[in-house]
Amino acid sequence: MSGPFAAPPDAATRCCAVYGHPVRHSASPAFQNAGLGALGLNWRYLAFEVRPEQLRAAIEGARAMRFIGLNLTVPHKLLALEMVDILDDSARLWGAVNTIRFEARDASGQWQPLRQFETDIPAEVRAQGFNTDADAITRSLSEDLGISAAGARVLLLGAGGAGRAAALKLAADGVGELFLVNRTPRKAEAVAAEIAQRFPGARCHVGYPERPVDLVLNATSLGLNAGDPPPLDERLFPFQRAGAAYDMVYRPAETPFLRAARQAGLRTANGVGMLLYQGAAALELWTGRTAPVDVMRQALLKSVYV
Ligand code: ATR
Repeated sequence: MSGPFAAPPDAATRCCAVYGHPVRHSASPAFQNAGLGALGLNWRYLAFEVRPEQLRAAIEGARAMRFIGLNLTVPHKLLALEMVDILDDSARLWGAVNTIRFEARDASGQWQPLRQFETDIPAEVRAQGFNTDADAITRSLSEDLGISAAGARVLLLGAGGAGRAAALKLAADGVGELFLVNRTPRKAEAVAAEIAQRFPGARCHVGYPERPVDLVLNATSLGLNAGDPPPLDERLFPFQRAGAAYDMVYRPAETPFLRAARQAGLRTANGVGMLLYQGAAALELWTGRTAPVDVMRQALLKSVYV
């Protein structure tokens, strides 16, 4: 049999899925199924187009059908906060749910992931919400660029949803000094104010730094479309003043931002690592096993770039 699985699905196959709107672009099925197959599990990971107004019904459907878990992508991550039975600290801290794990009580009354029940799954199943996105940012910076957030000087471009999450995570991990730049300065100021309130020790400023930084991080959506203006104003901050560049955009593999950074001699990485590590962490929550990250990475790169 071709593909990652040793046998076709049967009546014992367990399901995980991603819900999104739109979802057709998602690479998650490709790399999650590669991971499940490498672990030898008779599970499958599917993708469903779910409209926001039907998210609650779709989560209930997965619960009723004894799915192992779900991933949620745009536009469901905030809505789901109100739709799960319990929030893990990660979801509470980051204010968004990108992973749900279904759980039932074992003989001693402890909640356990549904993987632990092969047959006779108890009638009462709860949905626990997690967030694996935030950790994936700093794991990707560490594994793909060798940069630890702690103590680093970072110029962060963008203060939308992705920029805010990156800024808060960097502050939580003890960033040395953080500089926020955004087309709409008011949004960067709002993120800086939130950091000042939640992480009072963090050094965070709005505007370009005067001294060199370890990392310039693009968290704007610029680069997704050909003809986008560059996210970095090189007249105000030349690439040569940074040690490395990271672009959360990963299609194309080398964005104009990363090309300019590489040509200026910087180490570079794109956001495909964030996608990989948020998925690997979800797989670990569902399976209780170490994710086969190399197999998953290969499948992800093939799905996104080939
Ligand atoms: P996401 O959830 O991907 O972060 P978002 O919340 O819409 O999406 O944020 C998009 C980011 O890209 C913002 O920082 C946005 O800047 P504004 O806050 O000023 O809107 C930035 N962005 C998008 N288009 C831009 C453009 N043409 N020039 C500069 N910045 C842009």
